[in-house]
Amino acid sequence: MSKDTMIKKAVIPAAGFGTRFLPVTKSQPKEMLPIVDTPVIQCVVEEAVAAGIRDILMIIGKGKRSIEEHFDRNFELESELEEKNREHELQTIRHISSMANIHFVWQKELKGLGDAIRCARDHVGKEPFAVLLGDTIIDAKPGVTKQLIEVFNRYQESVVGLEEVPRAKVSRYGIMSGKPLDKGGIYLVDDWIEKPKVEEAPSNLAIAGRYILVPEIFDLLDSQTAGKNNEIQLTDAMRRLVKMRAMYGLRFDGVRYDIGNKLDFVKTNLIYALKREDMAKDLRAFLKTLVKSD
Ligand code: G1P
Repeated sequence: MSKDTMIKKAVIPAAGFGTRFLPVTKSQPKEMLPIVDTPVIQCVVEEAVAAGIRDILMIIGKGKRSIEEHFDRNFELESELEEKNREHELQTIRHISSMANIHFVWQKELKGLGDAIRCARDHVGKEPFAVLLGDTIIDAKPGVTKQLIEVFNRYQESVVGLEEVPRAKVSRYGIMSGKPLDKGGIYLVDDWIEKPKVEEAPSNLAIAGRYILVPEIFDLLDSQTAGKNNEIQLTDAMRRLVKMRAMYGLRFDGVRYDIGNKLDFVKTNLIYALKREDMAKDLRAFLKTLVKSD
């Protein structure tokens, strides 16, 4: 890899069933659940675009057609809005289809996150690339993908976004073992473990759903056997990658919201609605009445 390799492509896995969010996910992808009025996956694409990425590959599966439609142009709707002079709405929907070149590939069987990323091999080729999980948004300035790319630009090696989680919750995440390199939140990784028991966890720094990976990960994914939950785990391939070349972690500044979890989903909507000028005042007043009458 030359010294100035750039991150030009992002992969967004969005193929899972969303079983934690049934019944709404029976016929609707969880990635299309709204944050107030914007699907989660649009927020994820906007994070990649804000990091300078224009080429995005989504890994989708059965029942995910509405994701494709969301990022396609809708000429009928556009002409309807044009006729009615709804300029703001028109710009809003045009922006969705014009902000990036979005490609799709199908994961034929749901065999885990590692298998989903493997489906990106032909599209990504031999370049390092970003991965953003399609059901997770991170409120950060600058966006986490941008923060990770800055670290990548320095080391030209894989970088993974890390979040501190309570010890009791480590078994929900991939967990890092490594040493801090500086006070800026950068770690040199020496191992990863997917969903460890509390007593096995080497730290409470969890993989937060944002990665910059070198293309060598694909060979490792090809030969990766099933791990936790009998799925091909990306973390297991990363564990082998770290034995071959350096890998970094970045404890980023920002807050992560996992939309696949119902309580987090409701909280996230309230937090984002309270940030919006058009509804913050009324919503705050309403919430106060709710809490009082409780
Ligand atoms: C996946 C990864 C895990 C990571 C998590 C973040 O797990 O396998 O390493 O910490 O995303 O949300 P999942 O939540 O898909 O079980």
